[in-house]
Amino acid sequence: MSRQVRRAILGDIESLLQIDPVAGRDDSRRKYIARAVRAGECWVVYEKNDPGGPIGYGCLDRSFFGEWFIPLVVVSSEIRRSGAGRQIVSYMERHSSAEKIFTSTNVSNLPMRRLLEGLGYQHSGRVENLDPGDPELVFVKFLS
Ligand SMILES: CC(C)(COP(=O)(O)OP(=O)(O)OC[C@H]1O[C@@H](n2cnc3c(N)ncnc32)[C@H](O)[C@@H]1OP(=O)(O)O)[C@@H](O)C(=O)NCCC(=O)NCCS
Repeated sequence: MSRQVRRAILGDIESLLQIDPVAGRDDSRRKYIARAVRAGECWVVYEKNDPGGPIGYGCLDRSFFGEWFIPLVVVSSEIRRSGAGRQIVSYMERHSSAEKIFTSTNVSNLPMRRLLEGLGYQHSGRVENLDPGDPELVFVKFLS
């Protein structure tokens, strides 16, 4: 089956809450997802011929010092490591007018770090004291 990416619509919100394990326990994540979808700042990946709904999502906004920033990429645990995360991030890069995009992830998040390195993101800083003992690494990719 071929996978495609499109902007999220209101009807996707329930599926996104199911995909994202954090949404099950964190009300602020649920509110964030709903807000991002309503703002047109969320993209979903889905199987073209499967009516089952999105299997992953990513968000892109201007929340980082006014710069383009990817705050979240989440792929359903059943289909991880099959290219969906890379597909979402690449799509958001291509469909933004950004000259550079920032993102960040914890030191401990090797899957996301590897994904970003594979797409050409460079180290752009480190923030201590967000999650205890697990600094946040900032990355940037220059697109133009
Ligand atoms: C991080 C995440 C989005 C990656 O999505 P994914 O669809 O599984 O990633 P992809 O299949 O597109 O992988 C792309 C590359 O990332 C790296 N990668 C992904 N998962 C990996 C893993 N478990 N171990 C090592 N490298 C990994 C690999 O380099 C991979 O390329 P390859 O398979 O050709 O070697 C997914 O693991 C996820 O949803 N995690 C939970 C939420 C999260 O932590 N999001 C990131 C911070 S917001």
